[in-house]
Amino acid sequence: MIELDGRVAVITGAGRGLGREHAMLLASSGAAVVVNDPGVGNDGSGGDPTPADDVAAEIRALGGRAIASTVDAATWDGAKALVALALEAFSDLDVLVNNAGILRDSTLVNMSEEDFDEVVRVHLKGHLAPTKWAAVHWRAQYKAGVERRRNVVHTSSTSGIYANPGQINYGPAKSAIVTLSQIASKELARYGVVSNCVVPGARTRLTLASPGLPEIMQAPAEGFDVWAPANVSPVVAYLAGAGCPFNGETFYVQGGTVRRLEPWSLAGDSIEYPSRWPLDDLERAMATFQSRGV
Ligand SMILES: NC(=O)c1ccc[n+]([C@@H]2O[C@H](COP(=O)([O-])OP(=O)(O)OC[C@H]3O[C@@H](n4cnc5c(N)ncnc54)[C@H](O)[C@@H]3O)[C@@H](O)[C@H]2O)c1
Repeated sequence: MIELDGRVAVITGAGRGLGREHAMLLASSGAAVVVNDPGVGNDGSGGDPTPADDVAAEIRALGGRAIASTVDAATWDGAKALVALALEAFSDLDVLVNNAGILRDSTLVNMSEEDFDEVVRVHLKGHLAPTKWAAVHWRAQYKAGVERRRNVVHTSSTSGIYANPGQINYGPAKSAIVTLSQIASKELARYGVVSNCVVPGARTRLTLASPGLPEIMQAPAEGFDVWAPANVSPVVAYLAGAGCPFNGETFYVQGGTVRRLEPWSLAGDSIEYPSRWPLDDLERAMATFQSRGV
């Protein structure tokens, strides 16, 4: 059973797109939600409190419990304040959904230092910092004798898994998020925390700004809208539930499709030498590996 009733959730980037849908579903399932979003542009510039305020107000108008936060979740102090707000407003924190994101696409040769730093910061530190402060609270609770299931859901991307050219900042940050989730799953299990990751595919302003995607992601006139961002939220809600049996997993979610990803693993072929490889022997032996044509 997906147990969300009475739980307290922080969702970053919840003013728009996927995060908004996650917030609406968790709230309608009985969770109190901290709707975090500084309302920045696609590239992280600017700021507007309206998206977070509107989502929180919409949840409250439907009878749910929600509060808005406009802090930058990718700063140490912002993430700390975000967790503190959940504790102050709703007395505890059970669920953290790390979802905030921006894009500043560029090839390696054209990448600027600022665009690399900012995208890696918002995604990787934006997942690490809220998880760190939530974990500080959960460890203290555990040591005080409170044993509750706590859940973190992270957001990766096919760009990180399949290495999209043109996203040399975003892709590495997104694949690092999977590793972050797996390390957190091992470190925090003793405190009752599970950490899992989703790889979504949906029509949002981020994907609509990517060349070629708006045509593919158009909503149909009738029938199932496979690119609607709300399709991803049931899996996030499942992974956020007190009954979630998974830890350290990553799930691709798009439309009605959910696929589990294999973690990094050794391929079947290997070569061996009884001591350090002489270069000539190594060159011959390496040729036995099948080229993957990367
Ligand atoms: N839409 C997709 O198909 C898709 C695919 C793969 C991954 N993702 C990931 O899903 C997440 C949500 O993206 P989306 O598509 O809904 O885009 P979106 O632009 O609709 O929503 C992202 C939200 O994050 C907020 N945000 C940006 N920086 C923030 C920060 N520092 N702190 C808190 N909030 C911040 C933005 O203001 C925005 O409202 C992102 O991490 C994105 O990389 C999306």
